[in-house]
Amino acid sequence: MHNSVLYCVGCGPGDPELLTLKAINIIKNADIIYTPTARENKPSVALSIVEKHISEETEVRQLIFPMIKDYEKLRESWKNNAKEITSSIRNGKRVVYLTVGDPSLYSTWIYIHKEIQNNHKDIEVEVVPGITSIFSFSAELKTPVGEGDEIIGIIPACYNLDRLKIAAECCDTLVFLKDGRYFNNVIDILMESSFPEDSDIFIAQDVSTDVESLQKRKLVDVAKNKNQNNDKYFSIMIAKKKK
Ligand SMILES: C[S@@+](CC[C@H](N)C(=O)[O-])C[C@H]1O[C@@H](n2cnc3c(N)ncnc32)[C@H](O)[C@@H]1O
Repeated sequence: MHNSVLYCVGCGPGDPELLTLKAINIIKNADIIYTPTARENKPSVALSIVEKHISEETEVRQLIFPMIKDYEKLRESWKNNAKEITSSIRNGKRVVYLTVGDPSLYSTWIYIHKEIQNNHKDIEVEVVPGITSIFSFSAELKTPVGEGDEIIGIIPACYNLDRLKIAAECCDTLVFLKDGRYFNNVIDILMESSFPEDSDIFIAQDVSTDVESLQKRKLVDVAKNKNQNNDKYFSIMIAKKKK
């Protein structure tokens, strides 16, 4: 590990056995580990995955990324968090930033990285990839996400239903991430799109953890009997267009 480098480590979806050897080596040698969380004292999922590899000398610090839509307040939190991380590095500490899954997929790391690129150019970064929830889920389902010439769309919560309609026409597989509460809303859009009624819908919560729940249903059945149990942040849905 080099001192002027910030290491961002992807911790995988939840099962500690899905951590990479590189992730473990970097975590073991850290002076400070930063874990993102939505509010103070909320347990960090990423931290729980890597906990047993953290040495007693390592200091673990939470960084708050509020789940709000106010862009100015969000930017302020990214700036402050990046400042705290980079000042630790400039003080000679070996610093590691944890993310769930892979750092490049909708993670808080992306905002920290942009801040560093723009305002802390003296700091180098190294990104350690992690197994994303998407591929952990497809492995459990024993179902491919993309085969041959299939097109895959990844949708991070349904902020814009018009864009979803376009994606539903273009894509063979749609993966829905983030807040599971909106899954029910998208089912009607899929029913109205070119997804046949017998398309497969796979829904899970807490993939690759001890409390995982998983459903395999047909689109038409989900439409008739919408599930109220998706009300969880760690929810994922894969819709596969029947050919
Ligand atoms: C901010 S995104 C981060 C994605 C992450 N970087 C990845 O590679 O999977 C968080 C969303 O990822 C999905 N997610 C991550 N881990 C999951 C898990 N173990 N089970 C189900 N969904 C998960 C959920 O949709 C959650 O709301």
